[in-house]
Amino acid sequence: MNARLTPAPANGDLDAFWMPYTANRQFKANPRLLARAEGMHYWTADGREILDGVAGLWCVSAGHGRREITEAVTKQLGTMEFAPAFQMGHPIAFELANRLAKVAPPGLDRIFFTNSGSESVDTALKIAIAYHRARGAGQRVRLIGREKGYHGVGFGGMSVGGMVNNRKVFGASMLPGVDHLPHTLDIEHNGFSRGLPQWGAHLANELERLVALHDASTIAAVIVEPIAGSAGVVLPPIGYLKRLREICDKHDILLIFDEVITGFGRVGKPFASQAFDVTPDLMTTAKGLTNGAVPMGAVFAHRRIYDAFMQGPENVIELFHGYTYSAHPVACAAALATLEVYTKEGLLTRAASLAPEWENAVHSLRGLPHVLDVRNYGLIGAAELEPRAGKPGARGFEVFLKCFERGVMVRQTGDTIAMSPPLIIESKQIARIVETLGSVLRETA
Ligand SMILES: Cc1ncc(COP(=O)(O)O)c(C=O)c1O
Repeated sequence: MNARLTPAPANGDLDAFWMPYTANRQFKANPRLLARAEGMHYWTADGREILDGVAGLWCVSAGHGRREITEAVTKQLGTMEFAPAFQMGHPIAFELANRLAKVAPPGLDRIFFTNSGSESVDTALKIAIAYHRARGAGQRVRLIGREKGYHGVGFGGMSVGGMVNNRKVFGASMLPGVDHLPHTLDIEHNGFSRGLPQWGAHLANELERLVALHDASTIAAVIVEPIAGSAGVVLPPIGYLKRLREICDKHDILLIFDEVITGFGRVGKPFASQAFDVTPDLMTTAKGLTNGAVPMGAVFAHRRIYDAFMQGPENVIELFHGYTYSAHPVACAAALATLEVYTKEGLLTRAASLAPEWENAVHSLRGLPHVLDVRNYGLIGAAELEPRAGKPGARGFEVFLKCFERGVMVRQTGDTIAMSPPLIIESKQIARIVETLGSVLRETA
């Protein structure tokens, strides 16, 4: 057990922290402070137990307070707290890359370390553009994202992303030369699908339209989340990702899967790429990589891409890109210990065995007040609620708040309630999350 709860700051002490992705004034008027965590639970600063239905923020896949990770981090801090990765190396960075290469989709065994999902995305976009240039196709600089996509908050990720609130303020500052595929959410055709929806593979053909518009010779890469999380869980129709892969291959366009939330077991295989049997050229990850214990991200590149850079004089840096904290030793230690836990406890595939029970549980919300759609895959679930007239997001926020008051943490985006619990979840906890959400829906206007 962690020793004690951290007391809440005295009133007024909340001002200095400009909170990310938070309604600051609303929060500070009625704060929700988490002070301790263990296993499937958080405890608030005033001692209330909260069942974690979202693995923190889709990252604490092995559950909270894992002793193995704490010990590995502590040991690394005592051995070497930092080492530069520019023109220097340290052994556990190589060990971690080798470990990751072993669980990676076929061929994606060259690993570039970052500190977050956003950095992974911007890194992958830069690698894609630089790759084409290294092959003599420097005019391929255009990037294709997708509506409703979320790829973090860097200028690259924001530009290929497709969520209006993340984009509208920064319109003129976006990367030029970016276009977007249509999203794949269609409740009319696919409402209440169990698992992947049947309808919509043809939406991938829109890529051919963009190729016809811009010409393939200008396009570097297409980036999509295999399952979009932040937009409220949007699933790929059956056959959609395969079709995207075929079109990319036909036109020599790189395919990037953003697996920041789907990576490391969330969908019942180590990566969604393996679950859907479609291998991208680049894959971005973060979150589950260290069980959320230390910030870290990783871009998995196909060996062919890495090899394309390995030319010219050997004393010249092949890719002018990197972060001071790329392959930070403490993060590497956390990631190695995390992978060990995942492997020992079968967590990279456990979601597959829980998926039928999870699916039944979340689909039991069908028919409850306000529920327009229920979506699920692996250990991901979402209930889309009807928005209140003229007040988008208000009902979703109220539901999120009431669930929290009743001891269950879910995630709200607009009027969609998303659930992505730690992969160690047990049946009674699945039931508790869904029953709590169900009872809140019944009582919400
Ligand atoms: C698919 C995807 N990409 C990128 C990111 C950004 O990651 P980070 O917040 O670590 O920068 C997220 C975060 O939720 C994400 O879901």
